Amino acid sequence: METRPITGTHELMYQNCSLVYLGQFEGRELIALIVQDSTQTALTQLKLAKTLKKLNEEHRSLLSLNQKLEETQSQLVQNEKMAAVGQLAAGIAHEINNPMSFIKSNIECLQDYTQRLLDMNQSLNDLFTTIDNEQTKLEFMKKKESFDLDVIVEELPEILAETLDGTRRIQDITMSLRDFSRLDSDGWQLADVHSGIKSTLKIINHELKYSTCEIVLDFTELPLIYCLPAQLNQVFLNLLMNASQAVSKDGVIRIETRLLKAKECITIRISDNGVGISEENMKKIFNPFFTTKAVGLGTGLGLSISYKIIQAHQGTIEVESKQGEGTSFLITLPISKSDVDH
Ligand SMILES: Nc1ncnc2c1ncn2[C@@H]1O[C@H](COP(=O)(O)OP(=O)(O)O)[C@@H](O)[C@H]1O
Ligand SMILES: [Mg+2]
Repeated sequence: METRPITGTHELMYQNCSLVYLGQFEGRELIALIVQDSTQTALTQLKLAKTLKKLNEEHRSLLSLNQKLEETQSQLVQNEKMAAVGQLAAGIAHEINNPMSFIKSNIECLQDYTQRLLDMNQSLNDLFTTIDNEQTKLEFMKKKESFDLDVIVEELPEILAETLDGTRRIQDITMSLRDFSRLDSDGWQLADVHSGIKSTLKIINHELKYSTCEIVLDFTELPLIYCLPAQLNQVFLNLLMNASQAVSKDGVIRIETRLLKAKECITIRISDNGVGISEENMKKIFNPFFTTKAVGLGTGLGLSISYKIIQAHQGTIEVESKQGEGTSFLITLPISKSDVDH
């Protein structure tokens, strides 16, 4: 107790010790040892350090919570946006489809009537050759020429056929918009992956035309898989858009599907011979908001959303890439319902 001049208790004591050289005295070296009881200060310090450590931990967990929140929010916003866009597109497609179907049937009717008029014209022409009266013949010729009938006879069927083809194309687009967003069949269900890929390709056909790249389909027969088809289409869209943006004019995008019977799953590989991804960026591409594209070209959300969607399907998405050579994304999805937990 007597060693604790300040606190006077039996607890462990913290001391500040210092040695002070005093110099020589009568041929001896003299050193003074100063011992200070610094228990109070030390305990306060320790307490502070502990509190600081706890604060740091809390700060870190808050930060990661915040990041998670941001990710979830961006995912929600994007999901919401896609759902809204999909719904809108499918809604408009439906509205366009109605007038389009009567336009189409009217054109078909017009084609029929036109043919009859043309046939009549031909019969009149034939009849005309049998007329003897030169005067009447001349008048008939003049009248006919004034209508420029030859051009009409030649062009009318072409014009109608082209118009009909146009309406077919519009219907094709509206159908693929509807297929793509699959509004009529939302939710988990058995669906054909190939038809999802094809309707997605139709949607981005326009985008792909700019890069004039080639699309190679290498499909093998697949069973229907239990999935959220509209969401999977979203993944295909993201990966195909990225591929089309990565390739140059003579690029090739390959879509390969395989059945892994033993593992009861299917694989979809989407690869391109585009610019590739640097080793440094490979670690970041699935992060939300990571993009190497100019403002307006990329949001950096495509891959992070695709990752979440594949995860929700209990599948995996892997990437291989070599800068300057190309990139390949491999998606593996379970076939059956039992493997999916939702
Ligand atoms: N097929 C690809 N080829 C090259 N780089 C790619 C490819 N796919 C993705 N990336 C890289 O990953 C990044 C993130 O992709 P993504 O999440 O779709 O966002 P965004 O396309 O909006 O940039 C891209 O900016 C690009 O750098
Ligand atoms: Mg993208």
